[in-house]
Amino acid sequence: MTSLPQMNADVLQKAQTLIQQDLQTALDAFSLPEPLKGAVVHAVMLGGKRVRPALCYATADLQSDRTNFAAVRRAAVAIELIHCYSLAHDDLPCMDNDLLRRGQPTCHAAFGEHTALLAGDILQSMAFEVLGSRLFDTGVAVESQIVLKQMQILATASSKMVCGQVLDLQAEGKHVDQEQLENIHRNKTGALIQAAIMMAAVTIFKGTDEAIPKLRQYGQAIGLAFQVQDDILDVTASTETLGKTAGKDEQVDKSTYPQLMGLENAKAYAKTLHDQAFEALAYFGENADSLNNISQFLLSRKN
Ligand code: IPE
Ligand code: IPE
Ligand code: MG
Ligand code: MG
Ligand code: MG
Repeated sequence: MTSLPQMNADVLQKAQTLIQQDLQTALDAFSLPEPLKGAVVHAVMLGGKRVRPALCYATADLQSDRTNFAAVRRAAVAIELIHCYSLAHDDLPCMDNDLLRRGQPTCHAAFGEHTALLAGDILQSMAFEVLGSRLFDTGVAVESQIVLKQMQILATASSKMVCGQVLDLQAEGKHVDQEQLENIHRNKTGALIQAAIMMAAVTIFKGTDEAIPKLRQYGQAIGLAFQVQDDILDVTASTETLGKTAGKDEQVDKSTYPQLMGLENAKAYAKTLHDQAFEALAYFGENADSLNNISQFLLSRKN
């Protein structure tokens, strides 16, 4: 993180500090038997860029009113729990079969396959329990309509992630065209990124607000860009920088953007998607400083 421009580093580091505390508070509220507890802590607490929570908080920064901020904090925890579950399952031998994640042994490498599988399962229900709780509330509870909307957004995106994972595995060793690859990436990764933004959006804006479609547009662009870059980094970055095994996609003949269109075209496409994301933010002017910061970070991320 030290190589980031100061402005970017501040927004992201603040988000990382807050989410680390809030994840700890959330995990402490559950009583889990060992070795499940150890596996959950391993999957959730050890590193990670925390991009999805950062997007949640940055979306909330579009407004100065902090009345519903507890619900934004719960949404940030919930989305990160779902993301961590998706990683624990993604790394399993029956999926991508990876041994390194966030610079550590993967969950199943450390705790065994069945415990890693069940850790992922319980993280999924924990996410929804957190959303429905009053964790972090300081005053009046948020309207139940908002909580319902958050739950719907998260459930829909989680289902999309699973569908995307199925399509991703089916596409190994096959030639898929750009439309099919875009569909895989929008589902397996884009949906959860977009959900991070939309859960905060429905918490701070009314459903009829013009901000909602703008943020949906932003989330779509940044969500697809995220997986295009993940594919690029798999080719261009080292295992040490990534904290996961570099070159893994080519090894198993995954369908990726560099494989489909070549590395340089994939980089240009990621840039185009980022430009679309920045354009969507223009609507908010300087209120979108935090979101612009996160987008800048994402554009130049190294892992
Ligand atoms: C990795 O996500 C998996 C994808 C969806 C591409 P991140 O790059 O956000 O992983 P962490 O949370 O920082 O480890
Ligand atoms: C991950 O895609 C998508 C998920 C839903 C977790 P990848 O399989 O490319 O993610 P990494 O490269 O293992 O982090
Ligand atoms: Mg995968
Ligand atoms: Mg993987
Ligand atoms: Mg990858």
